[in-house]
Amino acid sequence: MTQDELKKAAAAAALRHVLDHTATGAIIGVGTGSTANFFIDALATVKDRIGGTVASSEASRQRLEGHGIRVLELNEVTELPVYVDGADEITPRLEMIKGGGAALTREKIVSAVARTFVCVCDASKLVPVLGKFPLPVEVIPMARAYVAREIVKLGGQPRWREGVVTDNGNDILDVHGWSITDPAGLEQRLDQIVGVVTNGLFAARGADLLLLATPEGVREYRN
Ligand code: A5P
Repeated sequence: MTQDELKKAAAAAALRHVLDHTATGAIIGVGTGSTANFFIDALATVKDRIGGTVASSEASRQRLEGHGIRVLELNEVTELPVYVDGADEITPRLEMIKGGGAALTREKIVSAVARTFVCVCDASKLVPVLGKFPLPVEVIPMARAYVAREIVKLGGQPRWREGVVTDNGNDILDVHGWSITDPAGLEQRLDQIVGVVTNGLFAARGADLLLLATPEGVREYRN
């Protein structure tokens, strides 16, 4: 199976989960990236059954609207039963690195509101320890160099993702060289640096369910 076929299989499993666990007319949280895109395409086949969606990026909003799926602002929504999104890395404890697509801040906000976070991945994303994938950190542009210096003090090697501006108008630093054995602790520590908007560690609020597509079928991991 190709990686895209695996992503599609994970997205199809997520759609089955959503249909089995949410009432007709529910609002669905939708993530960002290539696996989330397969989920959006699958969601289009049942668009008359859902009340609408909340998107974690402008790219996902456009794709959803392109399918004729209603997209609401998060501020209009009080109940979000489920959020479906991919990850750049995920552990068996369902802690993640996200933000490879620079959408980490909105992803973290939407997932904070959601009752259940369903992560959809192909098998290559499952790792014992986070950090091989550089950790994205969204920063206020004027604080970029300061935040980078503070990250160096913590042992990381930050690199500015030049030419990329987030949906919120900010910059991204990708931090290399970390083997992250305490994801929740590092997530909290990074958030304390002035000028950091969000970091791509999703440990304090990890996923609740991982649908991991392997050539042998979709495996489920729960928290
Ligand atoms: C977007 O900013 C990311 O958090 C994505 O969820 C993550 O990069 C996974 O993307 P793919 O499904 O394209 O691998």
